Amino acid sequence: MNIIVSIKNLKKIYKNNLVAINNLNLDIFEGEIIALLGPNGAGKTTLISTICGLSSISSGSIKVKSFDVVDEYRKTREIIGLVPQELALEPFEKVINSIKFSRRLFGKKNDPIYLDNLLKKLHLFDKKNETIKSLSGGMKRRVLIAKALSHNPKILFLDEPTAGVDVELRKDMWDIIKELKKDGVTIILTTHYIEEAEMIADRIGIINNGDLLLVEEKQSLIKRMSIKTLKVNLKKSIAKIPNKLKSYKLKLDVTGNYFLYNYKTGLEKTGITSLLSDMSSIGMELQDIQTKQTSLEDIFVKIIKD
Ligand SMILES: Nc1ncnc2c1ncn2[C@@H]1O[C@H](COP(=O)(O)OP(=O)(O)O)[C@@H](O)[C@H]1O
Ligand SMILES: [Mg+2]
Repeated sequence: MNIIVSIKNLKKIYKNNLVAINNLNLDIFEGEIIALLGPNGAGKTTLISTICGLSSISSGSIKVKSFDVVDEYRKTREIIGLVPQELALEPFEKVINSIKFSRRLFGKKNDPIYLDNLLKKLHLFDKKNETIKSLSGGMKRRVLIAKALSHNPKILFLDEPTAGVDVELRKDMWDIIKELKKDGVTIILTTHYIEEAEMIADRIGIINNGDLLLVEEKQSLIKRMSIKTLKVNLKKSIAKIPNKLKSYKLKLDVTGNYFLYNYKTGLEKTGITSLLSDMSSIGMELQDIQTKQTSLEDIFVKIIKD
């Protein structure tokens, strides 16, 4: 896999001495969708701003393709599109003019065919000549994406693309993002919706307090961190967990009717077989059993807490 963005020992300290990014290292691969997850104030927007050259770097370096984002700002900026967190649009401008304007900022000549195709892809083509203020919230978000893609960038940053939007529109945005990936665009999005990362990302990075706590393939992260809970309903209720079963760290319900057993799915041995045989050896009979899988949400909360 080719590395398209390479961040080395990045540190960002704001003027008030706040350390927003703390010695961060990250390689982003060409063509992937990477979701940066983290609570408010984690440093996600700051990270994006430094890569896009909108915010200065305190130390470390960032390369986009082979270009340095500080020394070769124009070159790196040309490869990047940014959909900012805040809606920033010109209300009285026509959709097409707003997009043409964005393209011109990069010194690129008008390309009506490219822009029409872009509008079509974003289902905006029939709004081409409408003023932005007449559009719905969802359409405005699409215009922001169109502006970010107006100069045909290879990398698209989306900073909280679906913050505060309804479920319907969120799903539309996910479809758009997946389509862009098919076109070969590398996508970096920040979000604090775990479901969003779960739905569309190839890799997940978790940021908290300016630290990148982990970056990992979504599937392997879920597999590795995933805990299942086994619920064992008993035929006869019990007052406490028998000594024989101490090592399983079971959680007995207050009713005494059932207990819970947590086990890791990534491990070869779950311990279920021996638990059941130990139960039967002391004459404990079970009524039935159920299992429940932890979600990425549970994993995220656990990582941030730890
Ligand atoms: N211009 C700024 N000056 C000083 N502190 C800032 C500035 N921008 C952001 N911060 C602080 O940096 C930290 C990270 O903010 P931000 O990158 O916006 O986080 P996120 O996007 O993850 O919510 C926060 O503590 C925030 O208050
Ligand atoms: Mg932010």
